[in-house]
Order: sequence, then C-alpha cells, then structure tokens
Amino acid sequence: MSTQPRTHDRPDAGAMPLADLILPDPAATDALAARLAARLRPGDSVWLEGDLGAGKTHLARALIRSCLGAGGDRADIPSPTYTLVQTYDTPQGEIWHADLYRLSDPQEIVELGLLDALETAICLVEWPDRGALPATGRILRLGLARLPDRPEARRLIATAPSDTGLAARLQGVWT
Ligand SMILES: Nc1ncnc2c1ncn2[C@@H]1O[C@H](COP(=O)(O)OP(=O)(O)OP(=O)(O)O)[C@@H](O)[C@H]1O
Ligand SMILES: [Mg+2]
Repeated sequence: MSTQPRTHDRPDAGAMPLADLILPDPAATDALAARLAARLRPGDSVWLEGDLGAGKTHLARALIRSCLGAGGDRADIPSPTYTLVQTYDTPQGEIWHADLYRLSDPQEIVELGLLDALETAICLVEWPDRGALPATGRILRLGLARLPDRPEARRLIATAPSDTGLAARLQGVWT
C-alpha cells in the first residue's frame, strides 16, 4: 500500500456532482451547514477540502453547533489544528472533527481512533488527503474556494458517491 495516499490521485468513479454554488457570506455558509447537519447520520463522513482559510473550519463549526442543538450557539468549538481531533456528543450522535494538515504519518489516523470512528460517528475531516482514509463509503466531499474581489463569498462544490444512498438523502439541502 502507498504510504502517501492522495485523494486527488485516486479514481473517483461513481462520484456524483451534487452542487456547485456560491455562498455569498459566512451566514450563508452557516445556513447550509445547518441544513446539512439535519441530514447527516453516524457513519457519514464529510471531507472538507480547499486552501488555507477557505472556510473548512467555519463550516464544520456551524455544522457542529447545529447538531448540538439548544446551547450549541454558545458552545466552544476549537479548531482541531493542533489536537488533530475534537469530539462532540450530540443528539444526532458522536461527531469527530479532524484536521489532518499536521499529521506526521498518514497511518496515524489509526492511533487517533479516526479509522474506527468512521463507522460509528459523523466525521468532519479537514485536509483528508493527508491521512490514509478509505476513499469509499458514505463520503460527502465539499470543496471550498475563495472568489476574486469577494472576501466574504466562497464557491462550494459538493460530490458524493452515487451508490451509497447519501446523495439521495441530501436532496434539497443545497438551496
Ligand atoms: N462565505 C464564507 N464562508 C465561510 N467562511 C468565510 C466566508 N466568508 C469569509 N469567511 C471567513 O474565512 C475564514 C475561514 O477560516 P477557516 O479557519 O474556516 O479556514 P480553513 O479552511 O479551516 O483553513 P485551514 O486550512 O487553515 O484550517 C473565517 O475567518 C471565515 O469567517
Ligand atoms: Mg481549518
């Protein structure tokens, strides 16, 4: 097995385009995250892709707040930049928020417990290409990108496998 898997190099057969839209401001990202949160279940992963500052943590934080429900808007949701993972117990199940940017070895996801959590939790993963994550299963891939001359806006591209039921479950969340 390769020790340095790169999601971009993997075949993405069966990935279905779900959305390609503009989030005009952070509030729009929060609203989308809340709609998504209502549809996610343990065993789903959300891969958050995009450059530094693209908005991956912002989106994850909004999603976690929404899953926490009452009081979620006051909850402390630190970025997992240095801890690599933060976990939350929510009424929708356990959430793992991971940032793999500083992973020293792609296999470290096993020691972190993230590989097991993929089966049992909702896993939100920033920089997923840094870890040896399985590329199959219920993975929603969200790519975020800045737009020239619009500092408050982001482009979001969403894909999911066509054969896992996840894409169908997310119908209608995008608008
Ligand atoms: N429409 C938007 N959606 C999300 N974030 C936005 C938007 N407009 C501006 N921002 C801001 O962009 C910044 C994104 O920072 P964030 O930490 O989420 O990036 P990141 O993708 O997680 O970066 P890193 O790779 O360093 O972890 C935040 O300050 C956020 O408020
Ligand atoms: Mg981040």
